[in-house]
Amino acid sequence: MSNKRPNKETTVRIPETLRRVKNIIGVFSAKGGVGKSEISLNLALSLAKEGYKVGLLDADIHGPSQPVLFEASKEVIDVKDKLLLSPLEKRGVKFISMGLIARDQKPVMWRGPMVSGAVMQLMAQTDWQELDYLIIDTPPGTGDAQLTLLQRLPLNAAIIVTTPQDVSISDTKKGIEMIKRLELPILGLIENMSFFKPEKSNKKYYIFGKGGGKSLSKEYEMELLSEIPLLEKKEFLILYDLETYKKVFDSLAKKVVKNMEAIKKTVTQVIPQKKG
Ligand SMILES: Nc1ncnc2c1ncn2[C@@H]1O[C@H](COP(=O)(O)OP(=O)(O)OP(=O)(O)O)[C@@H](O)[C@H]1O
Ligand SMILES: [Mg+2]
Repeated sequence: MSNKRPNKETTVRIPETLRRVKNIIGVFSAKGGVGKSEISLNLALSLAKEGYKVGLLDADIHGPSQPVLFEASKEVIDVKDKLLLSPLEKRGVKFISMGLIARDQKPVMWRGPMVSGAVMQLMAQTDWQELDYLIIDTPPGTGDAQLTLLQRLPLNAAIIVTTPQDVSISDTKKGIEMIKRLELPILGLIENMSFFKPEKSNKKYYIFGKGGGKSLSKEYEMELLSEIPLLEKKEFLILYDLETYKKVFDSLAKKVVKNMEAIKKTVTQVIPQKKG
């Protein structure tokens, strides 16, 4: 775990709406389609179930997928003449996504010429109130747009998601290097789609290869927070509603809370105290 970033107050100007948000965590992967959105949502649900005040921001402006995953694709938030947006509240999670903004009202949110501007606007204009955790589902990539976005978001820590495939692991390495350059603490690594276990069998099938996440976590000295099995999705569902996945995400949420607290302790230790 890196702990070089002093704290969010000293690095990025915090919008008024985020002043009562205690922890902002970005779920990040270099490669697309590895499960960031799925993990962000289920982690948020688990933290909310634990009794924390939780928000979820879908920072994917071009292809927001949270409204679909969160069964909110028909919901619309009215932004007309509003300085602050009220997030949707679902299952104890305050949720905002560009996908919730009505099509004809979107230009209001798009004044910023860059994607990062639009994300910041969405984040800063949402009336989050008090939150223990704000989970940000970030778009994939290690390019300039992604870098600018990560630099501008007032993140306290990142979680990195990969799948066991070689291509994902090698992309993830690039992603880790980028996060390290930003001096953003990393809470740990999640390997998604680690294996497939048929319902009535105890045998695990390592469809995408085995041990990639583990060796990556060793190489970069970061905790492997979770190895999430691949689910054969027959119909639309929220993973957290399945007993096996509930266990996986509850265990993940506990580790996230623990590591976040640990990071905060080391961060306060390195900040010089003001005298007088
Ligand atoms: N463990 C899993 N088992 C089965 N399906 C999964 C699992 N994790 C994610 N999925 C599914 O795989 C697809 C891609 O996942 P998701 O959208 O979360 O990835 P992403 O990293 O957010 O993608 P993008 O980079 O496009 O934003 C989705 O349909 C999602 O429901
Ligand atoms: Mg996504």
